[in-house]
Amino acid sequence: MSWTSADSTAIGATKYPRLLSELTIRNTTLKNRIIFPPTCPSWVATPQSARFNDLAAPYYEERASGGAGLIIIGGTHVHKSSIAAPLAQPGLWEDGQIEGFARVADAVHRHGTKLAVQLRHTGVRGFPSYKMDPTADLDHTWYTVAPSQVPLGEFPSGNTPKELTEEEIEEILTAHRDSARRAIEAGLDGVQLHLCHGYMPWQFLSPLYNKRTDRWGGSYEGRLRFVVEALKRMREGIGDGPFLGFRINSTSFWPGDLESDEVQQIVRDIEARTDVDFVDVSVGVHHQWIHSPMHFEAGWEREYAAGVKAVSRNPVFMVGRITMPDVAEELLEAGVADGIGVARQLFADADWGLKVAEGREEDIRQCVAANHCWKSVSKGQRVQCVYNPTVGREAHWGKEASAAVQAAEPRRILVVGAGPSGLEFARVASARGHQVLVVEREAELGGHVRLQSLLPSRAKFRQIATWLAEQAAKSGTEIRLSTDVDGGGLEALIREHRADHVVIATGSRVCADGFQGWTGEALPGASSRPCFGWDQLVTGQVAAEGDVVVIDEQAELTGPLTAVYAALHGARSVHLVTRWPMVGMESIADAYFEWIMPQVYESNVQLYADQFVRELRPGYVDLYNIYQPARTQTLAADTVVMVTARQSVNSLHAEAERLGVSCQVIGDAVAPRSTYEAVFEGHRHARAV
Ligand SMILES: Cc1cc2nc3c(=O)[nH]c(=O)nc-3n(C[C@H](O)[C@H](O)[C@H](O)COP(=O)(O)O)c2cc1C
Ligand code: SF4
Repeated sequence: MSWTSADSTAIGATKYPRLLSELTIRNTTLKNRIIFPPTCPSWVATPQSARFNDLAAPYYEERASGGAGLIIIGGTHVHKSSIAAPLAQPGLWEDGQIEGFARVADAVHRHGTKLAVQLRHTGVRGFPSYKMDPTADLDHTWYTVAPSQVPLGEFPSGNTPKELTEEEIEEILTAHRDSARRAIEAGLDGVQLHLCHGYMPWQFLSPLYNKRTDRWGGSYEGRLRFVVEALKRMREGIGDGPFLGFRINSTSFWPGDLESDEVQQIVRDIEARTDVDFVDVSVGVHHQWIHSPMHFEAGWEREYAAGVKAVSRNPVFMVGRITMPDVAEELLEAGVADGIGVARQLFADADWGLKVAEGREEDIRQCVAANHCWKSVSKGQRVQCVYNPTVGREAHWGKEASAAVQAAEPRRILVVGAGPSGLEFARVASARGHQVLVVEREAELGGHVRLQSLLPSRAKFRQIATWLAEQAAKSGTEIRLSTDVDGGGLEALIREHRADHVVIATGSRVCADGFQGWTGEALPGASSRPCFGWDQLVTGQVAAEGDVVVIDEQAELTGPLTAVYAALHGARSVHLVTRWPMVGMESIADAYFEWIMPQVYESNVQLYADQFVRELRPGYVDLYNIYQPARTQTLAADTVVMVTARQSVNSLHAEAERLGVSCQVIGDAVAPRSTYEAVFEGHRHARAV
């Protein structure tokens, strides 16, 4: 069902009158104030060609039909020198790129949703080394360009750019005009300048990046010049009719960069000097703030948006962990903003607007801020959600396609394991009409999702299991906890449920003996003393007694947070040992590293990088430096906790085969991976069965 604010029967319209009311921007009226703010449009064949592929239109159409009033396609290059490969993003620097945008516009407009695009130049935030695709690199610059030669401080070995000449600045400004014109030629309703998150327009504004002494730098007026000129050119490119706005971070949270007062002055001056129609507000130049973590409260950016709202004469949009409509409504009512951006939430649930309008809040698949989406994009992959596997697969698995997949012959299915894989299977299979019984050995749902949620600051992660189970139950799935089928129970359950298909979703176990991939063995001496898996610690099966040593082979967030857990739960001392050059390095890509490390230091966890275990002994762990094996040290260790490897638990597969019942193994029971793969496999099998 497609919904518009004119639909007076919509329950949501009485509950959320402001969120579901129209908003006019220049000559364009949005049907509601639900905005899909700019997010990486990763639906291109290659970063170099930067043209939309066939995934783009169905992806955006899904979100339009799901009730968004305005979609703003994310960072789109105005000029070839902006390419930030491996990030897959489109461009509008040449006419051949218009057609892909036109297809998206047609698809989005079919649902009464308006469409804009965020135009940007990455400046020093481009990635030149990856431009060296031998089939494409002959035409590309092999350096980044920026106002001044200030290296990018956000990553190790950040690029040092080439300083732009006057002629190059002029060329890039003209590119803003021409790409804006192309967007309107493609049928879009408006355009937005990317003036936040430290990209080129921000680099001109900020004294941190702009060290020029000519008319493009120096004074405040000089630093503002590029932005004012870019917006003027964009207006020139689009004419009087379409709307034009800019996205700005209201504050930086970065030493030496622009903060709230200065940004508010900039907003005032831009509005006084250019013909703009809205301001879209974000926070922070650094990804940990932009993609705020799960322990932040919904709507946390309110005071920053309110600061901009107070000085702007135009409609203001805001974002910030908003996943439920009551928060959005309250922000609108309080006058903090005029439009509500739900970015990650519309990855997690494209039908958010529909569910809000229909008063089906409990059906909303809430974004848990796990940032798997950002991790995918930052590694050059597509936008993907940790528990919405339909993202990017709308042509196969979206609303339209789903209508056709009711099971022709409903089956009776037994699922063993209520982790993310088994629950997603049950949710989809029961919605298709199958009779599903899920049995779980533990007294609680969730498998590794539950374990992860027991780590400090990760509680929200459990929402994944809660939502999947509630939705499965709503469609008729029966879930039995504390039901162990190891040791002969499988046959009886199959008989009782009259199951004609069994799904083994029994997950994986944490290797408590320190088994890992470097030596392909348990750690030496593991059998000489008690050793535990991190799961045993966070579930309270073992206590963090005395001096605790955590051995971390994963270098993602589990190791450091297990150490913090031990420190918070009575350990005398905690030592975190890893063979890698630093702990937590895999959590840089999901923007959690900066949130985890303060906890590690506040808890007084001692870090040992580049170390491997020589011997585990009663009371002690002997370590050696992997680059200088003769350098050894010994740590006191009353409790040893392993974050090394996991192995599949799937012995019931053989049992099911022996019983001659149709059977499928999914998720970690096939091979231990992340929640994302587990949910994906549950989903795929449920559609096929
Ligand atoms: C995968 C991903 C890609 C993003 N790409 C862009 C972008 O291209 N331009 C932009 O201004 N913001 C981008 N953002 C930031 C979002 O627009 C938004 O400000 C942020 O996710 C916070 O909003 P939320 O809490 O509703 O998710 C991106 C965010 C994510 C998670
Ligand atoms: S991956 Fe996580 S942060 Fe991203 S949309 Fe899904 S639930 Fe939200």
